[in-house]
Amino acid sequence: MLELTHFETAPTRLRGRNIQAGYQRGWGLQFGDLVGNIHRDPLYARAVRLARDRSVVAEQNRMNLYLIIRFGFAGLAPGHIVEFGAYRGGNALFMAAVCRELHPDMKIFAFDTFEGMPATDPSRDAHRAGDFKDAGYHELSYIIEREKLDNLVLVRGLFEDTAATALKGIGSVRLNHIDCDIYSAVKFSYDVSCNHMVDGGYWVFDDSLYSSCIGAMEAVEENLIQRDGRFAEQVYPHLVYRNWDPTTDCN
Ligand SMILES: C[S@@+](CC[C@H](N)C(=O)[O-])C[C@H]1O[C@@H](n2cnc3c(N)ncnc32)[C@H](O)[C@@H]1O
Repeated sequence: MLELTHFETAPTRLRGRNIQAGYQRGWGLQFGDLVGNIHRDPLYARAVRLARDRSVVAEQNRMNLYLIIRFGFAGLAPGHIVEFGAYRGGNALFMAAVCRELHPDMKIFAFDTFEGMPATDPSRDAHRAGDFKDAGYHELSYIIEREKLDNLVLVRGLFEDTAATALKGIGSVRLNHIDCDIYSAVKFSYDVSCNHMVDGGYWVFDDSLYSSCIGAMEAVEENLIQRDGRFAEQVYPHLVYRNWDPTTDCN
């Protein structure tokens, strides 16, 4: 049976992080038995079939999201999940299927143009405008209806045009999955979410450690590390940061 024991929040949180939980997830996926145990987990197996052929998220990254959604929200204030960069929606469908069973009050908001990347910055980004343009918005809408995932909302358009208004309606966020590959979009989707994150809420950066996404890493370095003084809770299989109020952290 899939069990994790270090997901309590304070007082083990140091600089906002629960290091033990980060080790348990990251080490367990990289060196331990979590991959096999998650594969055998019936809820994971039911939900992951929706991501097959519709997601470019690596399986261990998705498994880590599963661990956070399943074990990491205890003690957090109510809030929703946002995903910046949904593409064909596979990972959003997965998270919606998991939340429908574990957190029926939570919704998943999936942001994308659903028409591919906007203009990129060739001095930082390897991706180009139009990458991921085969998103298939109408097919994705059909799958959401067929699977009766009424907790999944697609927000179509440039983040820069949609997110601030959408987040006003969404309110609080427990998990922001940032999966948009390029400097401008990663920076924007972090910044726009900051005032919406619950205490202890998670920012998960899917692609900053990828060889093709130096711009995404620069956005993390410049904004989370240098500007906001944040420290990672987890670095494998992707970067995970937690929201915290430094004035309440006695460590
Ligand atoms: C790597 S894909 C997302 C993968 C997806 N999470 C999955 O499950 O396969 C990155 C997406 O970010 C979107 N994107 C990047 N910048 C954007 C922006 N400024 N506004 C809207 N969408 C953007 C692209 O259209 C693309 O679909």
